[in-house]
Amino acid sequence: APLVRGQSLYHERHKKEIEDGILSHLTELGLTLKEAAEALMGGHDDDVVAFSETGEYRDLQKHARAMEQEHLRELLEDPQRFKAMSLEAKHCGVFLDWTRQKVSEGTMAKLFELARTMDVPAKIKQMQNGERINTSERRAVLHTALRARRGDAHHDVSENVARYTSMLEEAVPIDDAIKASCDVRDRLLAFVDDVRNGRVRSVRGEPFESVVVVGIGGSYLGPEFVTQATAGEKAPAEDGRRVDVRFVANVDPVAFDVATEGLDATKTLAIVVSKSWTTAETLRNAQKVRRWIVDGCVEKDARLSEPQIVRAHFVACASRTASAEVEAWGVDSDARLFEFWNWVGGRYSSTSSAGVLPLALARGSTAARAFLDGARAMDEHFFAEPLETNVPVVMALLGIWNVNFLGLGARAVVPYSEALARFAAHVQQLEMESHGKSVTIDGRPLDFVTGEIVIGEPGTNAQHSFFQLLHQGQAVPTDFIGFLRPDDATSDLAGHDELMSNFFAQPDALAVGRAFEDVLGDAMGADGGDLENCPHRTLSGDRPSLTLLLDKLDAFHVGALLSLYEHRCAVQGFVWDINSFDQWGVQLGKDLAGDVRANIRGEAGAPRMNPSTAALLERYRVATRA
Ligand code: F6P
Repeated sequence: APLVRGQSLYHERHKKEIEDGILSHLTELGLTLKEAAEALMGGHDDDVVAFSETGEYRDLQKHARAMEQEHLRELLEDPQRFKAMSLEAKHCGVFLDWTRQKVSEGTMAKLFELARTMDVPAKIKQMQNGERINTSERRAVLHTALRARRGDAHHDVSENVARYTSMLEEAVPIDDAIKASCDVRDRLLAFVDDVRNGRVRSVRGEPFESVVVVGIGGSYLGPEFVTQATAGEKAPAEDGRRVDVRFVANVDPVAFDVATEGLDATKTLAIVVSKSWTTAETLRNAQKVRRWIVDGCVEKDARLSEPQIVRAHFVACASRTASAEVEAWGVDSDARLFEFWNWVGGRYSSTSSAGVLPLALARGSTAARAFLDGARAMDEHFFAEPLETNVPVVMALLGIWNVNFLGLGARAVVPYSEALARFAAHVQQLEMESHGKSVTIDGRPLDFVTGEIVIGEPGTNAQHSFFQLLHQGQAVPTDFIGFLRPDDATSDLAGHDELMSNFFAQPDALAVGRAFEDVLGDAMGADGGDLENCPHRTLSGDRPSLTLLLDKLDAFHVGALLSLYEHRCAVQGFVWDINSFDQWGVQLGKDLAGDVRANIRGEAGAPRMNPSTAALLERYRVATRA
């Protein structure tokens, strides 16, 4: 354990000292480095109390049985409840109401205690200050630096412990991270202005009309969500041109066809987003887009060469360590590589070049800055507020209450906004990739559930889709997200009223339900005696939800919402004491796809597949290679 701690606080100045210290200590113990490493794999820090071993956990388990006896219908009759269970994230335009969660003030106090026992305030500080909390990948977690401004004080540089070098990877001090991110952002937004103003043009000297963004996972879901969500920010380019931004993620060839349909390849700029520049789907789709653009341009002017076209039409968002590959691919890695760093996890990268470039090309650089300011405002709230008045913390703890103590393992995310149609897909990846874990941060097997199964669609569509199960089937805690004011483009207040009437009605329908006696009363009266159907018409209610009310649907509030969910996610991981920033589970699928690919192609020495898989593949080969 001291060796692990020593490594994670591996300060540059003490590097030699620590190395010598460790080695001489091992010699004293008569251990080789390999033996020590093996011991570490199985060793744990006995000072760390697991989530499920805390007194608060046991207390909350008992308390949950008592709360199950309370019905939300009655709890909601308390006139003090709204004051006690609602909160505003100041300067963020975000208001949270959790009166419809199955909690009392006592429950909340116990949850805050649990968070303190699990060291949440210290862990937030570690993240803020750039400590390498993503231990399994030896990386800091600094997506908040992406929206910080030069000289920002909310990262406490005096407490900077990031000035160390890990055994395997160079460190980035927090102030350097902010500077690097501001430099890329300035360069990126200048490039965006040039594209939108027609100073940067296609290989044939025409202004770009469309953008195709290629990426997958975190390099797609967040960027697509934020670009769509800011659709109300209608800033046309100076010449009145609107830039049509499309996304292609899936390796299914249909995704490419849909994304490029109706676009003129010769006036299309392509952005390839891949931090690692190794993701198979992205590189394949990038090749496809390349072929499409090159062929389109050559068809118009046969004198144009492929390298010339690629250099004019392609931009990359990738890590600087991939710059040689990016350059070899044909992108100008000095001017057209907008980097993001290893201290930005893929699913936390929406405020990096990966998310900001598409958003800014579509909506303009002013909207992009407002978006980053919104995220920054929420960061400030998160870093400054105590647990009790911290909106992301409260939301995180309510999730833990539902999953670990009430046994409600799924959650619905339902924004009452068509522009937020892709929000649930983003949150699904953010949370499910972060929290699908089997061990604690120091490698102990988990004996409790982490993460929620996230589903979602915009309201009111969701009401006509999966809500029936929420009303009369299983209880699925739901996040209702609505806006006081619609985006500027929508002047239809009556339409907004209609949308919001549903938004306010659904949480009560879930919580209060419709009691059998009321249904019976109706049946005996106006309904004309439909007595036998009374059980079918009864809604038990008592189904938890929370309500997030944002001031306005604009880029600033989209940024605040994004950051709110990122921090909610991080806090849950801190309470469970897991690493929310790695994703080793995804790797196995990638490796196996390589084995299958070799089998499909019939390559000599292709790895053996089990008989079931081999039989399925044979069926596929017969159908496709006949
Ligand atoms: O799905 C796994 C994953 O590794 C994500 O975490 C990541 O966002 C995505 O693949 C894409 O990775 P890259 O940006 O390196 O192409």
